[in-house]
Amino acid sequence: MWKPSVSLFFYFILLFTHSSDADVGTAAQYGPPFLPTACFGGDASEFPSSNMFGSAGEGIWDNGAACGRQYQVRCISAAAPRTCIAGQTIQIKIVDRAQSSRSRASSDATSMVLSATAFRAIANSSASFINIEFQQV
Ligand SMILES: *[C@@H]1O[C@H](CO)[C@@H](O)[C@H](O)[C@H]1NC(C)=O
Repeated sequence: MWKPSVSLFFYFILLFTHSSDADVGTAAQYGPPFLPTACFGGDASEFPSSNMFGSAGEGIWDNGAACGRQYQVRCISAAAPRTCIAGQTIQIKIVDRAQSSRSRASSDATSMVLSATAFRAIANSSASFINIEFQQV
């Protein structure tokens, strides 16, 4: 008799303790040349010197408003086991639109495409894409 309401209670605990504004999606990676084509009017000085940046997929491109936005990104899973580097979260800046980027992404139609430097900070760099949790900061 009591079991359903006990489960419901724990369900609500989970619901309210889970970070509510993070999204789940996928990320690919890309390498040089990194030339800004869709953001900052072609000004590469907007690229973080840490190389922690990425290109927006169509889902977050937001008609160009994505340029300069910062995201916290964490790898949650991938096709091959142990691809994600446990406990690693990166912060990246959006500097381009994946669709019109000069460098080809390792996989099409992902939520975002990370620079090779950013990608390998959270996952095995031989993966072509990973499942991520991301949140604008
Ligand atoms: C990365 O993945 C490749 C291919 O699956 C594997 O051979 C390699 O050992 C992995 N590297 C690490 C550091 O886990």
